Amino acid sequence: MEEINQTNIDYSKLLKEAKKAALRAYCPYSNFEVGAAVLCADGRIVLGCNVENLSYGLTICAERNALAASRVQGCAKPLAVAVYSLKQNPCYPCGACLQVMTEFNERMKIVVEKDGSPEVLRLEELLPFPFNQGR
Ligand code: THU
Repeated sequence: MEEINQTNIDYSKLLKEAKKAALRAYCPYSNFEVGAAVLCADGRIVLGCNVENLSYGLTICAERNALAASRVQGCAKPLAVAVYSLKQNPCYPCGACLQVMTEFNERMKIVVEKDGSPEVLRLEELLPFPFNQGR
């Protein structure tokens, strides 16, 4: 697979994959389907969707599901995460997901759909002061 770097990322493709993932969402309580697509350095894309629970607080977001899945696929340092909602875009990641992203790559790119096109943001723009336990 082609080595991917910050200059040759196909953000439209990543967003399309996130859209596909959103179709798999399990969200009978909110009816707010979210899909996420994580881009690995070797070009692989790993998907995640939100999965809700009757005990609402157990809900897991699409982004964190995708990141956890990418980890077990051997993706040590994800380069980018695309997020797409079937209900409302742009769908920016919640604070918890941003914090989890910092764990794996402080320079992660975040892609959302804005007015029908990819909007690309840097993690540090969305979460300028992540919790870092003084590191
Ligand atoms: N959700 C995500 O999947 N990602 C986010 O970044 C924020 C919210 C989900 C959780 C819940 O299933 C639904 O959206 C409504 O909050």
